[in-house]
Amino acid sequence: MTDRLPPKPTGRSGSVTLWRYARLFRRDILSAQPDRLYGAWMAVFRTPFFGSAMVNDPALINLLLKERPADFPKSGRVGEGLKPLLGNSVFLTNGDDWARQRRIIDPAFEGGRLRDSYPAMRAAAEAAALRFQAAAGRDSEIEAMTSHAAADVIFRTLFSVPIEDEVASETFAAFRRYQRAQPVLNAGALVPLPRWMPRFFRPGTRAAARRIRGLIGGMTDRRQAEIAAGNAPADLATALMTTADRETGARFEAQEMVDQVAIFFLAGHETSASALAWALYLLALYPEWQERVATEAGAADLSDFTAVAGLRVTRDVFRETLRLYPPVPMMVRETTRAETFRKRSLAPRTQVVISPWHLHRHTRLWENPDAFDPGRWQTGNGRDCARRAYIPFSAGPRVCPGAGFAMIEGVCLLAHILAALRVELTDRPPPVPVAHLTVRAGNGIWLRLVRR
Ligand code: HEM
Repeated sequence: MTDRLPPKPTGRSGSVTLWRYARLFRRDILSAQPDRLYGAWMAVFRTPFFGSAMVNDPALINLLLKERPADFPKSGRVGEGLKPLLGNSVFLTNGDDWARQRRIIDPAFEGGRLRDSYPAMRAAAEAAALRFQAAAGRDSEIEAMTSHAAADVIFRTLFSVPIEDEVASETFAAFRRYQRAQPVLNAGALVPLPRWMPRFFRPGTRAAARRIRGLIGGMTDRRQAEIAAGNAPADLATALMTTADRETGARFEAQEMVDQVAIFFLAGHETSASALAWALYLLALYPEWQERVATEAGAADLSDFTAVAGLRVTRDVFRETLRLYPPVPMMVRETTRAETFRKRSLAPRTQVVISPWHLHRHTRLWENPDAFDPGRWQTGNGRDCARRAYIPFSAGPRVCPGAGFAMIEGVCLLAHILAALRVELTDRPPPVPVAHLTVRAGNGIWLRLVRR
């Protein structure tokens, strides 16, 4: 049993000036935060320019996400860096527009549809296992490999094409350029800095966004023609383009479909790639759990959706990974009127930050919060915290529509990879989590792959 704890960024202990905070933030959102947040229910930051509160109290999070979500819309700031790429996508909208989009999107991810997507997901997992096998015997940067795998899952399930498809691979490359040019989770997203502070809208952002939207537009146009001709494949894109809003009967228009496909690609591949890479790293760090996953996967029929959905150890490992390294580390909402939270008054338009990163490691909620222990999900504390203090996919009506999809995807990919290979630590220093678009490793995650 390894007594080492999984990597955690060093938080800061003292207070800093606003300017220094902004600079720390720009470098990395996680290490900019004070350590005391891991044990706090709430923290209020007041500056001459803005009010901001971080809430870690399960009752308050419940209020924000489930009881009165309409009173706490997504902050427009979050979308600043994303607008050129995502247009009017469901990730950015609020109110009636958002509700209408979810009425069309949610049915595409319902249980039965998930089962229909499984063969495409499994084909991507088999292809990933082959790529991992081809890299056996040397040290590999795992995030790049899981990113490739997760992008493949999205293209196969959405458009029935593998990532090797010319348009798919070009879109994937263009997304990477976009992310390098414009990190999505930036200081502007979490803290409403005054206008004169530097924005991080780097050159190339708009051009990259146009290129991506052009490529996606080509795919959706072709699909529209196939739907009209009656020969469209029964995948997620067809589902999204043919489902009518049950209240109005309207369907997504062409441009809006491009917005939604862009967010599915972005929300669906970066997040899963990050979680998978951390899961593999954790399994290299805790070989006893790796063997349990490999044994479970080896004994199962991985071609069967129900069998994969029932891989309990693998699922608990993936859940534990999402606890320790939630791919979306923080979410931002905004008050629309004066509020009182834990006897503190908040003015209208205060930014409210919900931090899965801190909540999932809260010292007053979780037993052994920083330890990797997939067994915790079968304990009383684990079950209680799963209900109250575990939100890797958010919660309430704005919960991630891809949550069920992502859980099956994670388990399916881990099972396929670990049935074929062992992952081992290398001599390089451990990865340090930093938050960019998702929680990634500062210098990548390196592992040695060994064939079984
Ligand atoms: C491990 C994988 C994933 C994680 C951890 C994750 C997490 C999240 C979280 C936390 C949100 C809420 C963000 C907020 O409210 O600020 C979200 C929203 C969203 N996710 Fe996921 N996600 C994952 C995979 C996926 C997949 C596979 C898809 C689609 C194929 C997807 C599509 C979306 C969309 C469209 C939204 C916006 C929903 C809305 O605002 O109404 N996600 N996701």
